[in-house]
Amino acid sequence: MAIEEETVTMDKVVALAKRRGFVFGSNEIYGGLSGFWDYGPLGVELKQSIKRVWWRSIVHMRDNVVGLDASIIAPPAVFAASGHLQNFNDPLVECEKCKRRFRADDIDSDVCPVCGGHLTPPRQFNTMFQTHVGPVADDASVAYLRPETAQGTFVNFKNVMQTTSRKLPFGIAQIGKSFRNEITTGNFIFRSREFEQMELEFFVKPDTDDEWFEYWRTERMRWWVEDLGVSRENLRIRDHEKSELSHYSKQTSDIEYAFPFGQKELEGIADRTDYDLKAHMAGSGQDLRYFDQELGEHYVPYVIEPAAGVDRAVLVVLLDAYDEEQTGTKPSDVRTVLRLKPRLAPYKVAVFPLSANKPDLVQRARGIYESLRPYFPVAWDDIGNVGKRYRRQDEIGTPWCVTVDYQTLEDGTVTIRDRDSMEQQRYPVDELLPTFLRWLGPL
Ligand code: GAP
Repeated sequence: MAIEEETVTMDKVVALAKRRGFVFGSNEIYGGLSGFWDYGPLGVELKQSIKRVWWRSIVHMRDNVVGLDASIIAPPAVFAASGHLQNFNDPLVECEKCKRRFRADDIDSDVCPVCGGHLTPPRQFNTMFQTHVGPVADDASVAYLRPETAQGTFVNFKNVMQTTSRKLPFGIAQIGKSFRNEITTGNFIFRSREFEQMELEFFVKPDTDDEWFEYWRTERMRWWVEDLGVSRENLRIRDHEKSELSHYSKQTSDIEYAFPFGQKELEGIADRTDYDLKAHMAGSGQDLRYFDQELGEHYVPYVIEPAAGVDRAVLVVLLDAYDEEQTGTKPSDVRTVLRLKPRLAPYKVAVFPLSANKPDLVQRARGIYESLRPYFPVAWDDIGNVGKRYRRQDEIGTPWCVTVDYQTLEDGTVTIRDRDSMEQQRYPVDELLPTFLRWLGPL
C-alpha cells in the first residue's frame, strides 16, 4: 500500500541522504561552508551511474559526438570574449539593518524578508570565482574558475575539428565541475556554488538550428524519462520569455521538475547561435570557421546546447524514487524504499549469509559475493536479522538481495529477493551472474 504523495518531502530525502551516506554538508567538522556539498560512498556511486548513462546516450551511442575534458581554470581573455565578465551578473540587494544579502529577483518588495529592514538598490554582482595563477597575486595573474563547461569546448573547437575530421552536424560533450558564487544557495544540492554539469555543444549549419533545437528538446526529455526513469508527469518543458534569455541565446527551453519547493529547472536547451565561436574568433584572432566541402565555403557553425546539472539529477532521482509503504497495521510498520532504476542503484545486488556465525554459510556467501564483484558493485551484509538487512537495502535502492541458507549447501540454490515486489525465488548459484546481467541490461 502506498502512502500519500506529500510524504515525499525534502526533509525526508535530505535526512535519508545524510543518514545513509549519499550527501554530506562540506567541511562539517569546521562548521561547514555554505553552498558546498560532499558526496558520500553511496552518493558517489549514484552520481557516477547518472554520468555514465548520460555519456553513453550522448557520446558512445552517436557517430557524430565526441568527448572532451577541458581545464576548469581559464584566463580572463576567455571570459572577456564569451561575455561572462560583462554579463554573468546577478542583481544583489543588501538589507541596511541586518546586512543579509539577496538576489533582487527573488524579492518582491523593498524591505528585507527576514527583519523588515530597508533594502539597498540592486547592484550587479559578477558570480564568477576569481583566483590567481602562480606565486604572485596581482592583476596580471588573475584567472577564473569556469561558470560553465561550455567555454572549454568552444576554445577547443578547432583542436577537436582538426583531430577528428568531423562533418557538421557534430557535437562535443563534457562532464565536469563548474563554479558560481551564487548570492543565495539552498534547497540542498539544488543550487550550490560548486556543482557538476553535463553539457553538449552540438554544432550545426546556421540555417538548420531551429530543427536541431526541436530535436534536442524532444531527445533530452526522452532521456530523463526512459534512460533515467524519472516520472513523465513530474517533468515539463518551459520556453524562456525573451527577457529571460542568457546573453548568448536566441531561444532556450528548460526541462523542469516538480520539486517539493516548486517547478524548477533541471536542464536548459539553448540555441547559442554562432555567438561564442564568433566571440572567440574576435578575442583570439584565430579562424574558427568550418569549411563545408559540399558547399565549398567557410562559415561559423551555430550551436545547440543541452546543459544538465548532475547534482540536480541526483536530487531528482532521489525524490522521484523515494517511497514509503505501510507493511503492517502499526504506524511503525513502514518500509522506506528507493525505487531506483537498477542501473542507477549504488549497489546492484546485496549478498547475505543467513547467519553470520555459521562459517560454512559465510564462506559460501563470500564466494558468491566475490564472483559478482568484478561485474557491478555488490554489497555484503551479515549484521542483524535478514528482515532488517532487506530494509537497509530497500532504503538505499538495492534491487536484489541474495541470501545463502542451509538449502544452498544441499542443492546449490539461493533466494533472490526483489526490492519492489518483496517476492523471493530460488535460483541455482550458477545462474546468478547471467540472470543479473540480463535484468540489469547495459550499465
Ligand atoms: N552552458 C549553459 C549553462 O550553464 P545554465 O542553465 O546556467 O546553462 C545548466 O546551467 C544546468 O546546470 C542547469 O540546468 C542546472 O541543472 C545546472 N546548474 C546551474 N547552476 C547551478 C547551481 N548553482 N547549482 C547546481 N546546479 C546548477
